[in-house]
Amino acid sequence: MITFGIMKLLVIVLMMTALGAVYSISGLYGYDSSSNWKTMRVMDFMIEQGYEAPNYFIQDIDSSKARQGEDLVTIGYTRIDKINTKRISKHFVCINCHNTVPETNELSQKDPETRFDYMMKNKLPFLPGSSLYGVVNRTSFFNGDYKKKYGSLADSAKHDLQSAIQLCAEISSEGRQLEKWEVEAILHYLNSIQLNMSDLNLSTKEVELIENGSKTDKLELVQSKFLSAEKASFGFPLAANVRTKGKNGDWEKGEYIFKYGCMHCHNPEGITTFTLEADQLNRNFLKNRMDKTNRKSIYEITRTGTQPKKLKKTYMPLYTYEKLTDKQLEDLAAYLNYKPN
Ligand code: HEC
Ligand code: HEC
Repeated sequence: MITFGIMKLLVIVLMMTALGAVYSISGLYGYDSSSNWKTMRVMDFMIEQGYEAPNYFIQDIDSSKARQGEDLVTIGYTRIDKINTKRISKHFVCINCHNTVPETNELSQKDPETRFDYMMKNKLPFLPGSSLYGVVNRTSFFNGDYKKKYGSLADSAKHDLQSAIQLCAEISSEGRQLEKWEVEAILHYLNSIQLNMSDLNLSTKEVELIENGSKTDKLELVQSKFLSAEKASFGFPLAANVRTKGKNGDWEKGEYIFKYGCMHCHNPEGITTFTLEADQLNRNFLKNRMDKTNRKSIYEITRTGTQPKKLKKTYMPLYTYEKLTDKQLEDLAAYLNYKPN
């Protein structure tokens, strides 16, 4: 009996020692960023190099808040104690206009065609708003011409993600002011979809710098690998006499824009009363109005969008040149005009 007791004790002591050893090894090497950076979030890595994170960065994400935030963004309300909370908007949910996944694998690239090819390959919704993936990593919001559209509201949202969320809930979504807990929940969710080091597509040379460079060099490199602001240039409808109506376009690209962009909102179950389907009849409707200088023409509507009305608040946001180039518009025209059969 006694020897058994001693044996047991011995086993326990041995196990404790082994565990202790494992812990001390992980203590020695586990926090060494030179081996760990690959699985880090970009913001955490930047902070390690001395970067001062903005106040909308959340270090420890609360997963239940993040889940509520995801509900608010994707379905417009959430449930608390089995009761549905009040909808943010009767007219829109955030994902009518924003994706929540990366829209490109070249985050530092401003070229709209690179983004386009990635989006088409991955069949992503082709939308007027910027993706909310990585929005926490940006330092300014409602940039460029959105300042013209939203004036002082855009100014106050300029460097403040909380205000940008409020602006979008109230104005862009034709909804209401968010409560404090809602903004917080959305922030937790947005922090859960921030950039990771693995998103940056680093070359072998860059990896070398990440592992051996100075803090300043590392920070500079990482910051050069993604855009800190989404540019926005409002376009002008092409004059009717220079519209080539798809003659030089790629109809397959146009088909993607139609099905994953226009139909995202104009599908029969969508948010508008003007429904589009990917058939000849619907194509003809738009095809026959391309020359027009009113909002039935794809050349006009994509650049101007529509305005919310008193009784019908659902409106169409415009596509900036960054989100839809004139060349891509030409592809859409080619789909309407030149798709075989
Ligand atoms: C009707 C379309 C629409 C809806 C609905 C909408 N947004 Fe937006 N949102 C936009 C547009 C357009 C911008 C302009 C800047 C951009 O995204 O490029 C924008 C900007 C933003 C920005 C700043 C992004 C940046 O990089 O400048 C955030 C954050 C945002 N929206 C969050 C939300 C949230 C959260 C909701 C839901 C409560 C929402 N939006 C609903 C159209 C919309
Ligand atoms: C974010 C949602 C959204 C997207 C994306 C969108 N639209 Fe719209 N569109 C609307 C809304 C809302 C209206 C307002 C009319 C309504 O609801 O009846 C509208 C209006 C229109 C009209 C005018 C209809 C009329 O009777 O005056 C046309 C034409 C149109 N859209 C074409 C397009 C095309 C082409 C695309 C793709 C390039 C597109 N839309 C993408 C939401 C959207």
